[in-house]
Amino acid sequence: MNGDIIIREATEEDLQNVIEVNLISLPEHYIHDFWLDHLRAWGKAFIVAEVDNRIVGYVMCRVESGIGFLRRGLIKLGHIVSIAVLPNYRRRGIGTMMMFKSLERLKEYYNVNEVYLEVRVGNIPAINLYEKLGFKKVKLIKHYYLDGEDAFVMAKTV
Ligand SMILES: CC(C)(COP(=O)(O)OP(=O)(O)OC[C@H]1O[C@@H](n2cnc3c(N)ncnc32)[C@H](O)[C@@H]1OP(=O)(O)O)[C@@H](O)C(=O)NCCC(=O)NCCS
Repeated sequence: MNGDIIIREATEEDLQNVIEVNLISLPEHYIHDFWLDHLRAWGKAFIVAEVDNRIVGYVMCRVESGIGFLRRGLIKLGHIVSIAVLPNYRRRGIGTMMMFKSLERLKEYYNVNEVYLEVRVGNIPAINLYEKLGFKKVKLIKHYYLDGEDAFVMAKTV
């Protein structure tokens, strides 16, 4: 990796490359319109990482109203729907930088009070990343994933 890492808002032109990063990195895939809907609705917090003109990572979010895991009552929640970094670009801080930007923008543009996500109980790299960012495990959902693996819900106030 030679070039600088650029962390920026995603555009519609990035979507195909984002989907490719997702296909390589995760077993959870979505139809094109799902990505597009999230980009159009909550694009200020849809973040990509670019190195040498190549999309190497993304964070896709949405905003929901609901009962907080950490805060009481009905609040605005940011939901991290999907995050991935291409294998050759991992462990260089890209996941952390994208999450920082996304969390900052969820608060700034969408006024969320809390952010949450689901993660496979066996996904140690991701759990470590979220814990480093201050997320706490707040719930266990049995058999959340299609293959039967359980999920932790992790949440953080912002
Ligand atoms: C999870 C993922 C996004 C992390 O991205 P990344 O750019 O490698 O993350 P960072 O370099 O910012 O790492 C931040 C911290 O996460 C933890 N971490 C990252 N990779 C790790 C690994 N392989 N093993 C253990 N901890 C790890 C470490 O605490 C790391 O800090 P450190 O390098 O100072 O020790 C990346 O591994 C990935 O794309 N995985 C596949 C997709 C996925 O699982 N997405 C999450 C779904 S919930």
